[in-house]
Amino acid sequence: MEDVKFPDATHRVVQQIIGRYPEGRQKSALLPVLHLAQAEWGWLSPAVMDHVAGLLGIQPIEVYEVATFYTMFHLQPTGKYVLEVCRTGPCCLLGAEDLIEHLENKLNIRVGETSADGLFTLKTVECLAACGYAPVLQVQLPEPGASSNSTYRYFENLTEEKVDEMMETLARR
Ligand code: FES
Repeated sequence: MEDVKFPDATHRVVQQIIGRYPEGRQKSALLPVLHLAQAEWGWLSPAVMDHVAGLLGIQPIEVYEVATFYTMFHLQPTGKYVLEVCRTGPCCLLGAEDLIEHLENKLNIRVGETSADGLFTLKTVECLAACGYAPVLQVQLPEPGASSNSTYRYFENLTEEKVDEMMETLARR
């Protein structure tokens, strides 16, 4: 079993977050602690989720249920950039499915996979709250030195040409 443990500084932050909640309610800290875990390890392996469960005094299944529900959590290692295409109604009506197919062909992968060069992981997500600018895609950009290991950038009113341009820019970054 992989030996997983937050570094001391992050462990202190985790304890502060847990301390915000009354005794017996440590599970309430689950989402922020999972975000810290993903920032630390890049994805949530079973060993990482088990470690989080232990810190919160809950069963591992309670962590798995949450981590598998929210698409912002990665359950496999990802590429440098995670492309998250909105697949909800308004974006689909304006071409999201065609964009997903375009990305799959361009990267030679299927949704959920990472390109052979390790640069791009393709995911689909629910509404990104920018329906007026559909179709929309968000990218997690690695930001070394930030408190979390990534930040998000939106790309809106997408076309295949805009997607190609965006990917060329990212690949040069
Ligand atoms: Fe795509 Fe809302 S439906 S942003």
